[in-house]
Amino acid sequence: MNKRYYVTTPIYYVNDVPHIGHAYTTLACDVLARYKRARGYEVFFLTGTDEHGQKVEKAAQTGGETPLELADRVVKRYQALWEKLNISYTDFIRTTQERHKKGVSELFRKIEAQGDIYLGAYEDWYCTPCETFWTETQLLDGNCPDCGRPTDKLKEESYFFRMSKYQDALIEHIEKNPDFIQPKTRRNEVLNFVKEGLRDLSISRTSFSWGIPVPGNEKHVIYVWFDALTNYITALGYPDDPDGLVEKFWPAHAHVIGKDILRFHTVYWPTFLMAAGLPLPKTVFAHGWWTVEGQKMSKSLRNVVEPNMLIDKYGIDAIRYFLLREVPFGLDGDFSHSALIHRINSDLANDLGNLLSRSTAMLSKYFKGTLPAPEAGDDLDAAFKEKFAQAVTLVDRHMDDMAFNKALQSIWELVSAANKYIDDTAPWALAKDEAQRGRLGSVMYNLLEGTRIIALLVAPFMPDTAASILDTLGCDSENLSLEGQDQWGGLQPETAIEKAKPLFPRIETE
Ligand code: MSP
Repeated sequence: MNKRYYVTTPIYYVNDVPHIGHAYTTLACDVLARYKRARGYEVFFLTGTDEHGQKVEKAAQTGGETPLELADRVVKRYQALWEKLNISYTDFIRTTQERHKKGVSELFRKIEAQGDIYLGAYEDWYCTPCETFWTETQLLDGNCPDCGRPTDKLKEESYFFRMSKYQDALIEHIEKNPDFIQPKTRRNEVLNFVKEGLRDLSISRTSFSWGIPVPGNEKHVIYVWFDALTNYITALGYPDDPDGLVEKFWPAHAHVIGKDILRFHTVYWPTFLMAAGLPLPKTVFAHGWWTVEGQKMSKSLRNVVEPNMLIDKYGIDAIRYFLLREVPFGLDGDFSHSALIHRINSDLANDLGNLLSRSTAMLSKYFKGTLPAPEAGDDLDAAFKEKFAQAVTLVDRHMDDMAFNKALQSIWELVSAANKYIDDTAPWALAKDEAQRGRLGSVMYNLLEGTRIIALLVAPFMPDTAASILDTLGCDSENLSLEGQDQWGGLQPETAIEKAKPLFPRIETE
């Protein structure tokens, strides 16, 4: 098996500034990327920005700047946020980059050359905010069925992609590859949609100019979704593949997206790829949407949750933890400050933080901070160690399923088991009896060794916290590999371990 992993976020529109919803998708991809790296995979993790289209053109006009000026300004905000959130991406693609434009034109040309693109005329209802055409029957009370906003009737000359031709092939692909669209409910949704019949797709516009020109007919610009989706291969170097990355990493293992852009990724994109003779991504995973204190997040409601503010207030790792722990990936969730504070105080400050401070404090008190070697253990120890072996396997399975909340749950079962191990073994009682000195040493070793494994398992979710725990334990905090290091017995006796400072201060609320 070649251990390679290619994971992508959607590319974000530059007419909006980053909020918690964008941070969520990117964070999930970061956790996957970090986990796979820890499992010895060579990872390519792509993110970027979607900078063409009418929406961006309009937003720039409104602000009195050129679309590129707008993009240059907003892209920095995304990049700064990703840096702050500890996002370990490999590459950041902007659709205004030459490498991308070249690849998109080439894909267009290729599909056209083989007869799947033709020139026709288009008349339909267009929703500008969604950049989507709708048929009369799809409209809801004359408005866009997705966002509810008014639509305009547009007639224009347009290039069409013969999407209808790929209907049966797509159905077959979805049916034969149960992992292609996840979660399952989304798969059924798409399958039903495709079975209702695919129309050919309009893939060019003449009504505005901010985009990549259609090769050979510059009056047209290429439809923004054809342009945007192609980023997943242009970033690797399609079509020339100068660095061999297409060869190495395509098809992607996972396109992680929000549920709102499912159809683009599971109907349009795969049929473009089929037409171009390229393999399809292995998995498209659609996560749910966040509301805020029970309401849809929107500029007009002024309730947009700004990640920078949250990070400054609560810390990077607390936010990273909360977003992936609180809601099963795939379902909608609600963001509230009280839920966040509750998680920080109970799971982080209390459970994890206390485990580290209690165990290092006891080591410092009973062994002057020098880790003793363990003796042969009893049944309690065997059961304790066994829990770690089981959790390692479970976490691996949950990560493969992108069940982040379950992975964290499994890790927190270890945290609870370790805290319980302290209560069960009562080191303070052992310390009173010189004959129990060896036993006390074993208990200390087991506790801190368990904490080491916990730190490695949480590292993809909370990299700074993991590094701080590993530093405290005298381990190499740069080496987060789980291969081998997830086995019991990694801590070296005689290591000097100081009493840890609190990992997460409790947040007091009135
Ligand atoms: N530019 C397109 C994607 C092109 S990918 C080839 C786009 N951009 S976006 O900026 O509008 O959205 C990017 C991602 O943010 C989507 O996956 C979307 O689901 C996610 N979210 C936006 N708001 C969200 C929430 N309130 N909650 C969770 N995710 C949300 O679409």
